[in-house]
Amino acid sequence: MAAAGPTEVVVVGSCMTDLVSLTTRLPKAGETIHGHKFFVGFGGKGANQCIQAARLGAKTLMICKVGKDSFGNDYIENFKRNGISTEFVGQTEDAATGTASIIVNSEVKTLFNPAPAHAELDPQFYTHADIFCCNESEAEILTGIPVGSPEDAGKVGLMLLERGCKLVIVTLGAEGCVMISVAEPIPKHVPAGKVRAVDTTGAGDSFVGALAFFMACYPNLSMEEVIRRSNFIASVSVQASGTQSSYPYRKDLPQDLF
Ligand SMILES: Nc1ncnc2c1ncn2[C@@H]1O[C@H](COP(=O)(O)OP(=O)(O)OP(=O)(O)O)[C@@H](O)[C@H]1O
Ligand SMILES: *[C@@H]1O[C@H](CO)[C@@H](O)[C@H](O)[C@H]1NC(C)=O
Ligand SMILES: *[C@@H]1O[C@H](CO)[C@@H](O)[C@H](O)[C@H]1NC(C)=O
Repeated sequence: MAAAGPTEVVVVGSCMTDLVSLTTRLPKAGETIHGHKFFVGFGGKGANQCIQAARLGAKTLMICKVGKDSFGNDYIENFKRNGISTEFVGQTEDAATGTASIIVNSEVKTLFNPAPAHAELDPQFYTHADIFCCNESEAEILTGIPVGSPEDAGKVGLMLLERGCKLVIVTLGAEGCVMISVAEPIPKHVPAGKVRAVDTTGAGDSFVGALAFFMACYPNLSMEEVIRRSNFIASVSVQASGTQSSYPYRKDLPQDLF
């Protein structure tokens, strides 16, 4: 299912195997409890974003390192099944640690997602990213402003513009997101559609992956329209359980998105 032509989305980021146990409650410290289901899933913020962009039809390439073990082998197979180029997926004896992900498209636009966020983020990340996309808690860690509404997100956006960002997107879960840019320094709320959420795990990565897809493959769309469509795709992902297992394929989405 690999898309033809040159690579459109390159993701540098984490790639983790999720070991998921379903239990009725969390164990207390040191306690052993029975679970009723166990499964191994594919996760890691960078890999999730790459999978979502690939499933929408972008020609993608992943840069990451996995272990020289069965999980690492399985993950490489997972990338291949999704049509992602694995030429730069290394295998090592050392464990890989995901700290942040950067997505680059063929026009060298850089989309930075500061996850997991650190208050003392290197200031160059603000100035070098074309798009700086964070969620409510990352926004608070970076700016000290608690984000509970589109108004708060607008304040965060203004502060991040002052730090040198060109365009900031703060995602707000069911509320969609707020964008603000140097070109238009007035916060704009782009709401998500009302859906019945089943499992919101990985919605942020679905959103960022869709954002990379639309920026790379539909460079003429306005940023507001790119965000509106990415909201739609992320809102589809919250209506099924799991992370990558909930990410929609292009063929299953309304074709007017493409
Ligand atoms: N309940 C919901 N209804 C509709 N859309 C949603 C819902 N939750 C999330 N979304 C969509 O997903 C996007 C990202 O969600 P959110 O801000 O929760 O990211 P996140 O906190 O990084 O998610 P996670 O850490 O769970 O992956 C939102 O901007 C929105 O488009
Ligand atoms: C935001 O993303 C971080 C990962 O950096 C995650 O731990 C956190 O739960 C997310 N916040 C919200 C409000 O979903
Ligand atoms: C995008 O816009 C440019 C300049 O206006 C135009 O030349 C090009 O054909 C457009 N591309 C698409 C895919 O619409």
